[in-house]
Amino acid sequence: MEFGARDAKTEYDVVVVGAGVAGLNCAVHLPEEMRVLVVCKGGLKESDSYLAQGGICVQRDRADFRSYFEDTMRAGHFENNPETVKCMIEHSRETIDELLSIGVRFARNDDGSLAYTREGAHSRPRIVFHKDCTGKEITARLLERAQRKQNVTFLPHTTMLDLLTDGNSCLGVVLRGNRTGKIYAVRAGNTVLATGGVGGLFRHSTNYRILTGDGVAAALRHGIAVDHLNYVQIHPTTLYTGGRGRRFLISESVRGEGARLINGKGKRFVDELLPRDVVTEAIFREMQKEGSKFVRLDLSTVAGGNETIARHFPGIVKRCREEGFDVFREPVPVVPAQHYFMGGVRSDLSGRTTMPHLFAVGETCCNGVHGRNRLASNSLLESVIFAKRAAEEIAACGCAEGNAAFDAARYENYRRLAEEDKKRVLKEIKGETQ
Ligand code: SIN
Repeated sequence: MEFGARDAKTEYDVVVVGAGVAGLNCAVHLPEEMRVLVVCKGGLKESDSYLAQGGICVQRDRADFRSYFEDTMRAGHFENNPETVKCMIEHSRETIDELLSIGVRFARNDDGSLAYTREGAHSRPRIVFHKDCTGKEITARLLERAQRKQNVTFLPHTTMLDLLTDGNSCLGVVLRGNRTGKIYAVRAGNTVLATGGVGGLFRHSTNYRILTGDGVAAALRHGIAVDHLNYVQIHPTTLYTGGRGRRFLISESVRGEGARLINGKGKRFVDELLPRDVVTEAIFREMQKEGSKFVRLDLSTVAGGNETIARHFPGIVKRCREEGFDVFREPVPVVPAQHYFMGGVRSDLSGRTTMPHLFAVGETCCNGVHGRNRLASNSLLESVIFAKRAAEEIAACGCAEGNAAFDAARYENYRRLAEEDKKRVLKEIKGETQ
């Protein structure tokens, strides 16, 4: 079938499930002739990409390749796929240029050059940023871009219940309108899973609660390969408020700019710029030793002082103030929380999964770029680059043809199915953990 030849409302050339940076950048780069549907579980701005604070990495110059490569591999305990890491780094500069060309604003030095910040396990500053809301800045621009495309339709507040397959190829998705309750099939020549991570399955996470590993659950159900489901990243510093719900991140770039972690006696107990997993472990040890529910982050040592704090971290200052903490006067209580999922649906350098015409991008996929522990600020970059590559592959590979039976009755008890999915994914996450 020709691209764009599908006429019914429930037939598309491509359906993208998820509207974070990965889903959006894929939609942006799909050819205009393709009819594209972007589905997301919450509102269009309810993705973790919007919450990313620190920044997005870039290879500073030619000489930086080796150091950036080694930092990524070392943070990932050398379990990364070197080929994917190489591909990401090699495409990093053109990716930042592309983001600038669509209007993304990154912080600049007085001479107009890009400013770079630093986070844990980076041997030099190589992260470009927009205040403390880089993810929002990038995702908002990509969303605008995708919304301007005539060939892209958005369907928010819609949950993917299942993949539609003929047992061999992916032929679309089964959806449920969260508000209408309507369950229906959308047939598509290619399907892209960009459903984000698994934080909604954890009691304490920086993620939106709706992110419950739906892409992984669908893959498990259909025997599609998944990798390293036990590779879950805990972020060392989220604001401790004692409450429930989503944890507020205190960006690692705060430590990159000089903030110190201290215990109840006001003593520093770890090098704050070690890889995330190492810092997290040190915090848990300290909490256990002291019998406390948190440690503290002292911003008084940030280079550039209050002026830097106010300019670089306005969102963090504001949120801490709302919770009753003045970062200019006192150390703030912080505690580790689930943050990122390095495992996921196995995908190659073009986002292909083990099922023909099914792609996986962003946090949903495991292309090996992060290894066992992700290097800070590699996630936005990885998502943007490999989503674009998936779009290019889809444009080249053509659409699946075939028929898949759809029986809406199978999904009537969708709540039970969702509970079973959550249990299955959690079991896999925990089952493999040492
Ligand atoms: C942070 O700002 O600490 C989070 C950035 C990331 O997850 O890479």
